[in-house]
Amino acid sequence: METPAIVQVTKLEKTYRLGNLTVSALRGVDFTLQQAEFVVITGPSGSGKTTLLNIIGTLDKPSAGMVTIDGEDITSMKDGQLTKLRRHKIGFIFQFHNLIPVLTALENVELPLLTAGIKPKAARERASLMLERVGLKERLSHLPDELSGGEQQRVAIARALANHPKIILADEPTGDLDTKTGSEVVQIMYEAAKRENASVLVVTHDPVVEDRAEKLFEMRDGMITRASQQRTPRESYRLRAIEPVPPEPARSLSQPN
Ligand SMILES: Nc1ncnc2c1ncn2[C@@H]1O[C@H](COP(=O)(O)OP(=O)(O)OP(=O)(O)O)[C@@H](O)[C@H]1O
Ligand SMILES: [Mg+2]
Repeated sequence: METPAIVQVTKLEKTYRLGNLTVSALRGVDFTLQQAEFVVITGPSGSGKTTLLNIIGTLDKPSAGMVTIDGEDITSMKDGQLTKLRRHKIGFIFQFHNLIPVLTALENVELPLLTAGIKPKAARERASLMLERVGLKERLSHLPDELSGGEQQRVAIARALANHPKIILADEPTGDLDTKTGSEVVQIMYEAAKRENASVLVVTHDPVVEDRAEKLFEMRDGMITRASQQRTPRESYRLRAIEPVPPEPARSLSQPN
């Protein structure tokens, strides 16, 4: 029996109106994300990738069409319901990690758990476990600007997965990283999501991310124009252990980064 899709997008349209100018960002998108799959959408700048991701993530509303998440139609939901759905079912990873600068790595991962009503002790345990899984056991008490770009993105991955979401939405997650770091981050995102049985939808220009895709789609002018099934079977990716970041000697507080 076929399992129901986690995300089902049907005839999705989004039109922005700026004065008397209208921009059709999405022009009839049909798209399906199945459970635990790793799907990548590429496409030129302005083709509608972020718009699609934000609508699926309930951060933006469509002009027409339907989106269901885990079987529920989100287009008819009230804001309160959407907030709840977002908090419990969706994790976000952005190009610029959006970590809170005054909170440590551990506190950044804990925060969404506490907001979702998890008890402090359980939140701390879960956050530590997630950071350990992304190789950052030795960086729990670092502030974001005491971490490298790749490490910051690992924290963002741990944070996105902390609350057992069914869906991870990532917008250019490697956009700010060099190729090697980007490749590590994609691998970590892949492994961590698989472990949690989460579905991942990534939009990107980065060929490193495309290489990891189980399904690859292309967007152009607000439409999905090409869908290719990836040649390599997904099992072959589930291999590499995540390399932990080693401990580092204590630094003096006055020392610049
Ligand atoms: N808030 C907005 N108001 C008006 N137009 C918008 C808004 N957001 C996006 N657009 C327009 O919608 C179209 C799609 O934008 P979108 O951000 O989805 O593209 P993208 O594929 O993510 O591009 P990039 O690869 O550069 O991030 C663009 O033409 C953009 O100018
Ligand atoms: Mg974009």
